[in-house]
Amino acid sequence: MNNTVTSLVRRPSVTDEKMTQPKLEVVLSPAEFASLEARDLRQTTCVVFDILRATTSMITALAAGAEAVIPVANIPEALAIKDERPDVLLAGERNGFRIRAEQTGSIDFDLGNSPREFSAERVQGKTIVMTTTNGTRAIRACENARAVLIGSFLNLRATVNWLRDSGPGHLILVCGGTYEEAALEDTLATGAVCERIWPQYAGGHVSDSAEIARRLYPLLQANLLDAMKHSRNGRRLFGHPELKDDVWFCVQRETLSFVAGVRNDGSIRRWN
Ligand code: MLT
Repeated sequence: MNNTVTSLVRRPSVTDEKMTQPKLEVVLSPAEFASLEARDLRQTTCVVFDILRATTSMITALAAGAEAVIPVANIPEALAIKDERPDVLLAGERNGFRIRAEQTGSIDFDLGNSPREFSAERVQGKTIVMTTTNGTRAIRACENARAVLIGSFLNLRATVNWLRDSGPGHLILVCGGTYEEAALEDTLATGAVCERIWPQYAGGHVSDSAEIARRLYPLLQANLLDAMKHSRNGRRLFGHPELKDDVWFCVQRETLSFVAGVRNDGSIRRWN
């Protein structure tokens, strides 16, 4: 890990981590978030994937020049930050759509959760406070981890390269899921990572969930957009004319070359 990145992760590099058996896990479903929160993750690196669409939107916002994204658990938390810092933009969804005054009791949110909304014109130089159904919850579930990265297909290679360079002894890839269920798109993204970093972990402890994800990705990777017809969240988005283009956007691969993750203050920023 280079010095710049080392200074940004939540805790300094732990050298003895590399001396123990490497361990790779995939958290497939939100049902596991509570147990994740309860675990000692001080020596663990987590990467969170909510491909449709929260983590893709966060990465897109940072690519468009947003200063930071602050993930929050619920609408009141977002409004409390806005009260203190009127300059922030509020973003997020409930049931896939932008949060409106009827849900906040006061104001409309500035943005929804469509990555196509996070253009430079809207977000450059801005801090965005974001609440989504699962994505921001998944990030919060990892808050005790040594480092938390935000994953997407857009910057998959950069994320994999970071993981190869830093070689976390214990790595958990966390799927945001759909409501309380596993999500095909998140499982595929974690499978793509597993496939590429497998040599680092194959001799250690590998959970069956990592094995499932790794074996699934090659079966569907040739046409991810088509695979989204078999995803609950994909079908939902395809069903709304104004949201359907989010699906192809979110399954684009390797369009961005930076890594992003959670800083000590809880904000998500670019790490390079
Ligand atoms: C979530 O966080 O649950 C998703 O990003 C939902 C969505 O597609 O808006």
